[in-house]
Amino acid sequence: EESQSFYEAVGGEEIFRRLVHRFYEGVVEDPLLWPLYPQEDLAGAEERLRMFLIQYWGGPGTYSQQRGHPRLRMRHNPFVIGGAERDAWLKHMRDAVDSLELPAELDKRLWDYLVYAAHSMVNAPDA
Ligand code: HEM
Repeated sequence: EESQSFYEAVGGEEIFRRLVHRFYEGVVEDPLLWPLYPQEDLAGAEERLRMFLIQYWGGPGTYSQQRGHPRLRMRHNPFVIGGAERDAWLKHMRDAVDSLELPAELDKRLWDYLVYAAHSMVNAPDA
């Protein structure tokens, strides 16, 4: 159906659950990224990213009900994110997106957004 959201088109919550879970499996093994994350609250971090992506793509707005306006650049201010961190983040996301085996068109839409969003999150010049 024409008015179907991207969230519905890819298969709803389960797809985002798999995406974010796979992404964090990569992050915990990453010596550059893992130190940035809350080591004691991996489940919470997973939940926050999953809720955000679900809301962004037209699913339930639980993220903003619990966290307020996303203001993602501001929320990333505590973390030094240069080109290396961005590329590592995207590497794990690419792996996670691949694992979903989405139709090419949906894969491209999701990936283009993630690349754009990751570039916009850089807040530190490369050393
Ligand atoms: C939170 C790192 C890009 C969405 C976080 C956290 C870290 C982090 C360390 C804290 C984890 C937590 O407690 O939730 C990075 C790095 C990035 C990046 C190194 C590299 C570019 C992105 C992008 C998005 C995103 C591109 C969106 C597409 C989020 C969200 C949260 C979060 C929604 C939770 C915010 C909250 O409600 O507190 N990120 N991030 N991040 N990140 Fe990123």
